[in-house]
Amino acid sequence: MEVGRVQSIANKTASKDTIPLDFIWPENVQPAITTVHGADIEIPLIELDDDDEERLIKLIAKASSEVGLFQIVNHGIPSDVIERFQKVGKEFFELSQEEKERYGKLPGSVEGYGSSLQKEDDGKKGMKKGWVDHIFHRVWPPSAINLRFWPTILTSYREVNEEYAKYLRRVGDKLFTYLSLGLGLERHELREGAGGDDIEYLLKINYYPPCPRPDLALGVPAHSDMSAITLLVPNDVPGLQICKDDRWYNVNYVPNAIVIHIGDQIEIMSNGKYKAVMHRTTVSKDKTRFSWPVFLEPPLEQIVGPISKLINKQNPARFTSQKYRDYSSYKYNNISQQKI
Ligand code: SIN
Ligand code: FE2
Repeated sequence: MEVGRVQSIANKTASKDTIPLDFIWPENVQPAITTVHGADIEIPLIELDDDDEERLIKLIAKASSEVGLFQIVNHGIPSDVIERFQKVGKEFFELSQEEKERYGKLPGSVEGYGSSLQKEDDGKKGMKKGWVDHIFHRVWPPSAINLRFWPTILTSYREVNEEYAKYLRRVGDKLFTYLSLGLGLERHELREGAGGDDIEYLLKINYYPPCPRPDLALGVPAHSDMSAITLLVPNDVPGLQICKDDRWYNVNYVPNAIVIHIGDQIEIMSNGKYKAVMHRTTVSKDKTRFSWPVFLEPPLEQIVGPISKLINKQNPARFTSQKYRDYSSYKYNNISQQKI
């Protein structure tokens, strides 16, 4: 079966100045029309090794309640660990198409190689597609890992990903701690609320090939992440945008920084004090953009809701408590039914 991948469409359209209609978004979301230039939004840049814990907690809490996105540096992940991790991820997309398809998604599974072309939206008029292919697989905990979706044909892939995941867990734990303290909770409470040691780390590698019409196309359309927190490293090609007051702003690239997205589950557990950030990505005319988000997600059976200590008469619960399984299937269905 011939599967349409954005990578092969990009190869075919490389010397043209048009793209297939499926990739042309309506004017009200086209990047050329909706991006704010000049007046850059300030994305907080936070040093995670700050000795003054009180100050660090305040900075993280402020960024999470006002923006929902910030970048961290001095996070303790050596730059060569990040470089190796990015290198093996890029190598996956250089494999032959046939080789990549061996890791193709199976129906009903989030893990595997795929693209938005694969969505069951074909035939539904009005559905648009993102200019991106990706591969998804869990990297932690060991009991949740399915190596079938790891491209271990690349000899160092496993070792390098395990190494990155080991460092990333330390960063994830710190963020949960500071976010908890920022709400006046005990250090462990948000992490426990999201599943404790069973929290799943799900890696996605986004591959955005050059696009002849970056003014009309989008990489990933507007959404908030359904994770608790997302920890992302990009390559140096800009493309991430966040929405504030109905306007879209570019997120600047900071070498060696990790981009932290507050996801829906932290917004829910904090009863709305922290905000899940609305974001999307744009693509480049002549450069390939990559990004490596890792989604820290509750296990499917975990019931997630506002932390009870944060609820009282003045602050009633603003979200229902429900299994992450139900939350995620509701969100998936809503997104795939979204018409524009
Ligand atoms: C995403 O939100 O899914 C992608 C973000 C990025 O590529 O920077
Ligand atoms: Fe996202």
